[in-house]
Amino acid sequence: MTNTTTTNTAGTAGSTATRTVLVLGGTGKTGRRVADRLRRHDDLTVRIGSRRAEPSFDWTEPAGWAAALAGCDAVYLSYQPDLAVPGSVGDITEFCRQAKLAGVRRIVLLSGRGEPEARACEQVVEQSGIEHTILRCSWFMQNFSEDYLLDGVLAGEVVLPATEVPEPFVDADDIADVAVAALLEDRHKNQLYELTGPRSITFAEAVRETTRATGRKINYITVPLDDYLAQLATYGVPDEVGQLLGYLFGTVLDGRNAEPVDGVRQALGREATSFADFAGRTAGTGVWDEVAR
Ligand SMILES: NC(=O)c1ccc[n+]([C@@H]2O[C@H](COP(=O)([O-])OP(=O)(O)OC[C@H]3O[C@@H](n4cnc5c(N)ncnc54)[C@H](OP(=O)(O)O)[C@@H]3O)[C@@H](O)[C@H]2O)c1
Repeated sequence: MTNTTTTNTAGTAGSTATRTVLVLGGTGKTGRRVADRLRRHDDLTVRIGSRRAEPSFDWTEPAGWAAALAGCDAVYLSYQPDLAVPGSVGDITEFCRQAKLAGVRRIVLLSGRGEPEARACEQVVEQSGIEHTILRCSWFMQNFSEDYLLDGVLAGEVVLPATEVPEPFVDADDIADVAVAALLEDRHKNQLYELTGPRSITFAEAVRETTRATGRKINYITVPLDDYLAQLATYGVPDEVGQLLGYLFGTVLDGRNAEPVDGVRQALGREATSFADFAGRTAGTGVWDEVAR
């Protein structure tokens, strides 16, 4: 287990009184990017919150949260596995209680669009008495490069439940830019930003963009939702993950989130990153180099 608290010596730009930040999920898709950006600031201590961190933070072990929170004045709050799962509201309520006791002044909550359960968690944070910023996000582009769609991309065949509903995928780097601004700048206090990409595209179009960026053919195959979930189970995907994906594809992906919005511009004064730009940049990292021919 590594020591996951670091203090930095690089240049600071425009930070406020925030000095110690707990980054929950700090080795994940958004948290890792948030932590990397925070480490560039002088006089800022970054503490990773995850099961493998020291001190360890586990959402299933509330008794251990105080150790991770001790001495922190701001928290990047990304929940596991998803704010939509049963029990999330209770966990967020208890977390906010402990954060307040620990003297945390500011929470930046990573949330999801179109999920009533996530909205209930946002309300808990909004009513916690702690300064907050809510980042209500669409599906992450990095699901194709760092999460459950990566294996399909590498196999040259992305299999998903049939849907023509477009989604304004958002870049995790844009989310991290907004999160860091919200952690360090007072003007984002008590704001809710809906973060999406600039344009909605279907999963088929996203796979085509990935093909274009990699220069290798990646097929997009659709199956009925029930068949998809049955197939996940045969691959040993845990039940709760299958249920979550079933809920996301069967309920949330009904068009309610199809409209892109301008939260990135509101927060940062610049446009959100397009899927094509994400795909081009990501192909350059080599993560998709092993796509089957
Ligand atoms: N993916 C999307 O398209 C999307 C869209 C909107 C919102 N969201 C929300 O984003 C959140 C996930 O954020 P992310 O995608 O940035 O993270 P992620 O990539 O799923 O990262 C996982 C991180 O969480 C830690 N972790 C896993 N289980 C944990 C546990 N039981 N207790 C404490 N830490 C745990 C991991 O470290 P260890 O293994 O060391 O614990 C790792 O740091 C979810 O709440 C999801 O609802 C996702």
